Amino acid sequence: MLEAQEIKPEIYWVGALDWNERLFHGYTTERGITYNAYLIMDEKITLIDTVKEKFSDDLLQRVSQVVDPAKINYVISNHVEMDHSGALPAVAKAMPNATFLCSPKAKEEFAHHYQEAGIDFKEVKTGDTLNIGKRTLTFVETPMVHWPDNMVTYDEFDKVLFSNDAFGQHFASSQRFDVSTDLCEVMKQARKYYANIVQPYAMQAAKALEVVKGLSLEMIAPSHGIIWTEHIPDILDAYTQWTSNEKVEKAAIIYDSMWGSTEKMAKAICAGFISAGIDARYFDIKATHESDIVAYTLDAKYIAVGSPTLNMKMMPNIAMFLTYQNGLSPRNADRVGFAFGSYGWAPAGPNAVQKELEGAGYTLPVPVETLNWRPTQEFLDELQARVKKLVEA
Ligand code: FEO
Repeated sequence: MLEAQEIKPEIYWVGALDWNERLFHGYTTERGITYNAYLIMDEKITLIDTVKEKFSDDLLQRVSQVVDPAKINYVISNHVEMDHSGALPAVAKAMPNATFLCSPKAKEEFAHHYQEAGIDFKEVKTGDTLNIGKRTLTFVETPMVHWPDNMVTYDEFDKVLFSNDAFGQHFASSQRFDVSTDLCEVMKQARKYYANIVQPYAMQAAKALEVVKGLSLEMIAPSHGIIWTEHIPDILDAYTQWTSNEKVEKAAIIYDSMWGSTEKMAKAICAGFISAGIDARYFDIKATHESDIVAYTLDAKYIAVGSPTLNMKMMPNIAMFLTYQNGLSPRNADRVGFAFGSYGWAPAGPNAVQKELEGAGYTLPVPVETLNWRPTQEFLDELQARVKKLVEA
């Protein structure tokens, strides 16, 4: 039988580990995914969040190891998305005596998700509390972190914040805590998670962060990944920086190439940044997944994007990258963009990149850099020198 893990006296982790998942709607999850759910054994027994539907049995086994599911009094759903709510129909069946609680927006959304389960959700709003014995739980709505329905649940007695998607990481591990896990890897995954999931809602996340900073905290228990204890200041500092949209002196050069000319330009541009003292790296879009690139570009001040012309368009991989990156609504006004690329018959590819960057609000200090056919070493040296001069200026 799968075991629950006690994370604080009377509070158990009863979630599920998805070691094999490699994709979360377009975002690569090379370390798998954890769906965290928590059981509080107070006078009124309370389950916080559930798991993805296919792990319903894992959740119920872990709960049953602690208590008969029929004895559960409350089920709190902090978020509608199916990675946390998919097990609700199975939970409703196994926990017939439970009252189900969620935000008002979640109640609306749940009506379109689990009609057949017939769950009667009760609404809780920001500031509402629920006494479950020695503990009183407080609810705070956190819309758009990451859907309109999100909320977090704060347990003042234990000083635990059940933060749902906020502060999560897609990271499967048999360890539950930051102190027993490789912190560098966890922070890397937290950054990738923020860049790919939370970034479009940076403003809302910043507001939620202010609320969190006002709480007395010993533990942040997100619904994905490891639980924050000793490294709470690290993750709060990271969110402060990420939500501030502050850029650092760093450049990313992203390109696709047909016969290597645009690649040579990418390398010369990268060398130009480095010779100007800027931390820079280039990404062949065929070699690095876009969800990893956006984790790097999250706070990069300079982004150069290159494409040759294919059928009078930019290369499809670059169009895909720009669609993905722009969909994350990065605040680009204080970001410097460059478009470049080689072409044979017409510079339609690099021009299309320039147009996309313009549309996404980048500051574009120079016209698109185009090159007919193949670059000479002299051209590449000049390009490197021009980038250096431009950055230094
Ligand atoms: Fe982990 Fe928005 O769901």
